[in-house]
Amino acid sequence: MSKKILVTGGTGYIGSHTVVELQQAGYEVVIIDNLSNSNEEVLDGIVNITGKRPIFFNIDCTDMNALTPLFSEHAFVGIIHFAASKAVGESVQKPLLYYRNNLVSLINLLELMPRHNVKGIVFSSSCTVYGEPDSNPIDENAPIKPAASPYGNSKQINEEIIKDFIHSGADVKSIILRYFNPIGAHPSAEIGELPLGVPQNLVPYITQTGLGIREQLSVFGDDYDTPDGSCIRDFINVVDLAKAHVIAIERMLNDKSNDKVEIFNLGTGIGVSVLELINLFEKVSGTSLNYKIVDRREGDIEKIWAQPDKANNVLGWKAEKSIEETMDSAWKWQLRLREKGVM
Ligand code: UD1
Repeated sequence: MSKKILVTGGTGYIGSHTVVELQQAGYEVVIIDNLSNSNEEVLDGIVNITGKRPIFFNIDCTDMNALTPLFSEHAFVGIIHFAASKAVGESVQKPLLYYRNNLVSLINLLELMPRHNVKGIVFSSSCTVYGEPDSNPIDENAPIKPAASPYGNSKQINEEIIKDFIHSGADVKSIILRYFNPIGAHPSAEIGELPLGVPQNLVPYITQTGLGIREQLSVFGDDYDTPDGSCIRDFINVVDLAKAHVIAIERMLNDKSNDKVEIFNLGTGIGVSVLELINLFEKVSGTSLNYKIVDRREGDIEKIWAQPDKANNVLGWKAEKSIEETMDSAWKWQLRLREKGVM
């Protein structure tokens, strides 16, 4: 059987790490990406790790005219759909951009799947769908609360679109993966997180500040109801996360479940505060980080961490890497970027 997988957003952060794991598991990968938040050089990093260059097309998933011939030319057995806009703050400023990118892309792919006998789609969702949890750790059955941003709302609506489509009788399967906070880089330091412009997320901001690219990290609030007052998150290693996608694809292709839609949390099950993460960074990098406490950031959740039992037991997947190893990989990646003169 052909094992060709379409990875949308495959030059992005989680996408590129997943392409590596797919290729190492013997899958043939076709990447589409509009390069809105990545660049083609990521493909070189993938080649340096796997020895194989994935097929790449600069295609925007909202462009049905470009997607249709792609599906005719390649017999995909499955799709992993990462391509999406993901900056929470920007989504508040540009809601229509977020709804267009994140909703139209998914609808296009779902429309094409049954027409071209594509069996399953793995969808990148987020713990953002839970909003502020009533209690932690949070499991997949927790109530979905109103989203705090258009970005979060787009993820909630995407999950509903997938469920409605499959319940309508469409002959496709889906596994929805709710990521907690992915951080770190490939241990080879060949690929990692490379946000264009000023980072919005914590870890790239920390590592860039560690190198002096940013002057100072702002810690958004130390007056939360948590032991040290800063927010708590479940930071999950990006390579661990990527491996779950290969397991999910295999599960769908081999009909290991009777359910046509399944949802899994992907996290470590351990909550770590922003200040604890800064301490860890200082320890692994041997540097002292310049940071200051500022006001809370609008829309932030106080504390959230995963109950990952379902993924552990049903998928047989578990987060394996320690947070120290993960922060070390993020730092090595940042040092590599300097070495290469990227930043
Ligand atoms: C958010 C989304 C998540 C999404 C991710 C991708 C929510 C609730 N979460 O994660 O779904 O997948 O973005 O972009 O919508 N922080 C600082 N200083 C900084 C940056 C961050 O103190 O310069 C703090 C934040 O206040 C937060 C923590 O670090 O408490 C993590 O922030 P971030 O990395 O941006 O991720 P989330 O907001 O948790």
